[in-house]
Amino acid sequence: MNSTLALFGGEPEVTAAVPHFAWPPIDDTTRAKVAAQLDMAVSIPGRSGIVAELEDGLRAYFGVRHAITSSSGTAALHALYSAARIRAGDEVIVPTWTFHATASPLFHFRAVPVLCETGLDGNIDPSRVEELITPRTRALMVTHLWGRPADTAALAAIAKAHGLALLEDGSHAHGASVHGQKVGTFGLASAFSLNGPKPLSGGEGGFVLTDDDDTYYRVLTFAHYNKRCSSEIPEGHPLARYAVTGSGLKLRIHPLAAALAFDQLGRLDGYLAGRAEIARHLTEQFNQVPGLEVTPGLDGVVPSWYGLTLTYPPDELGGLPIERFHRALVAEGAVEFDRPGSTRPLHELPLYQHPDPLFPGHPHHHRQYPPGSFPVAEHVYRNMIKLPVWHREQDLALAEQYVDAAVKVSAHYKELL
Ligand SMILES: Cc1ncc(COP(=O)(O)O)c(C=O)c1O
Repeated sequence: MNSTLALFGGEPEVTAAVPHFAWPPIDDTTRAKVAAQLDMAVSIPGRSGIVAELEDGLRAYFGVRHAITSSSGTAALHALYSAARIRAGDEVIVPTWTFHATASPLFHFRAVPVLCETGLDGNIDPSRVEELITPRTRALMVTHLWGRPADTAALAAIAKAHGLALLEDGSHAHGASVHGQKVGTFGLASAFSLNGPKPLSGGEGGFVLTDDDDTYYRVLTFAHYNKRCSSEIPEGHPLARYAVTGSGLKLRIHPLAAALAFDQLGRLDGYLAGRAEIARHLTEQFNQVPGLEVTPGLDGVVPSWYGLTLTYPPDELGGLPIERFHRALVAEGAVEFDRPGSTRPLHELPLYQHPDPLFPGHPHHHRQYPPGSFPVAEHVYRNMIKLPVWHREQDLALAEQYVDAAVKVSAHYKELL
């Protein structure tokens, strides 16, 4: 190991050329499949072709009756809330720490996201949910943050006891499971993103999963007017007569994105197995580095390892601010060590504090959220460093260089004070 920190002119520990992480993995097979789709169809208004293949593949993979693709995860969440019959004035309990799109579509229904404290893993803390339930609460939304499954058993029990719809945002957690059951199958319905770096990626896109026929028809009516509605919603169903217009929105996936996602779906379990192996190795190594601790997960869960999250306890390194520790890591060439910007506590975002300018007349019976409202989420967020998890054996050497960078910065922390 070099003795001088790269921040002070020493040789960086990580010598591999950038980029160090690219997702989704694209090879010649992927290229050929997407190129073939170009010749087959670039607009698919009904449930046919690559869209049907992808939806059937998702149904089989997750073991659910219905999968409905969409243009994005945000669109999937928007449709999901409509399908779950969220109405003006309703309250939906959501974790305060997630990507905002988990909850932001609620504003469009004039519904109120009621934010909930998280545990040390960033997932909604089941022990803090019941205190938020009011006669207006309709649903409980769960994100499996960074691909680590939340406590689905406890959350499902609370939802059942209070007659709430349990909804999941699985956007970080394709293929993750709890005691063998896949994330996204625990409640009434779930939404997933297929955006860029997600464990299952189509570049852009999303989907909703549900076993419930009525929820399925509602998602179609919200997001897929005309052809899909008229061919899939049975005659006689109260929504059938709205087929031509649906709700007025068209939130369809692009066939090229569907082709990419379908190709990736066949490889997903292989990716996840590879990630699990590298995550196991990194966990062992990082947990021996003073100043870093891998966030522990629950028993019985298999994460998707969308991110390996590390808690930085400044006290272990003489109170060194995380910003400086992180800068020193990046200077070592470990550029994938990341302090997330947009996936952050929602109560700090203007939309969640003052929705009025964007949503005039938005119901104001939500709580006010001054700083310090959610001490656990705020503390963990501020003291977290995240790393993407590689999936190929040949990436182990690069992962090792990242460990070396952390070991070096940790050993030299006094020079950074
Ligand atoms: C937890 C979560 N939910 C929803 C979304 C939104 O998905 P999309 O970007 O596909 O709209 C994201 C995307 O980053 C996310 O991380």
